[in-house]
Amino acid sequence: MSEIELRELLVALAASLFARGFSVGSAGNISARVADGYLMTPTNSSLGRLDAARISKLDPDFVHIGGDKPSKEVFMHRAFYQARPDAGAVVHLHSTMATAVACLPDVDPVNPIPPLTPYFVMRVGRTMPIVPYYRPGDPTMEPAIHVAARDARAVLLANHGPVVCGATLTDAVYAAEEIEEAAKLFLLLRGTSPRLLTAPQVDDLLTTFA
Ligand code: 13P
Repeated sequence: MSEIELRELLVALAASLFARGFSVGSAGNISARVADGYLMTPTNSSLGRLDAARISKLDPDFVHIGGDKPSKEVFMHRAFYQARPDAGAVVHLHSTMATAVACLPDVDPVNPIPPLTPYFVMRVGRTMPIVPYYRPGDPTMEPAIHVAARDARAVLLANHGPVVCGATLTDAVYAAEEIEEAAKLFLLLRGTSPRLLTAPQVDDLLTTFA
């Protein structure tokens, strides 16, 4: 896909997320790898109204080289790309249900959302660890995200929201949507004893859809 096509896809997918309430106001940011660096949503931009020509461009060292000023979470995206060479895109949202789970003090910090459905496992993997709270834009969170992302495609930032990568921009957006739906199911089922996918069922999904 050409960079122009990727810019247009980013605008369309972000607008779709915004239209369906996965982000509000200027919350959330999205990046995608290109041949000579990265595209990233500009800081304080609404995912509902991005302009393809003004999307920030960063060089391979994450230095801003074009477009509007990038997200203040550049380092969060960098942590994923550097921890996971397979990452082609990163999506960060403040989607309501996932953020609600990120506010619960009594969930498992390594695996806050259990394997309830196949698509959550297929898109996100075995684990989505919680990274402790940092102020949005605080660069000191980068090492914690880097360590967590070495073993996980997604992390949940405490009291803040999910961050997930994918091989492509579309994959990363699909994964962000599955995180929100899985969080919704988890909250709906809280206080009950739902049947979870078994370890062999999880293994089967991850080998079949690797
Ligand atoms: P930016 O507008 O700088 O991308 O920040 C939005 C956000 O979601 C912070 O976590």
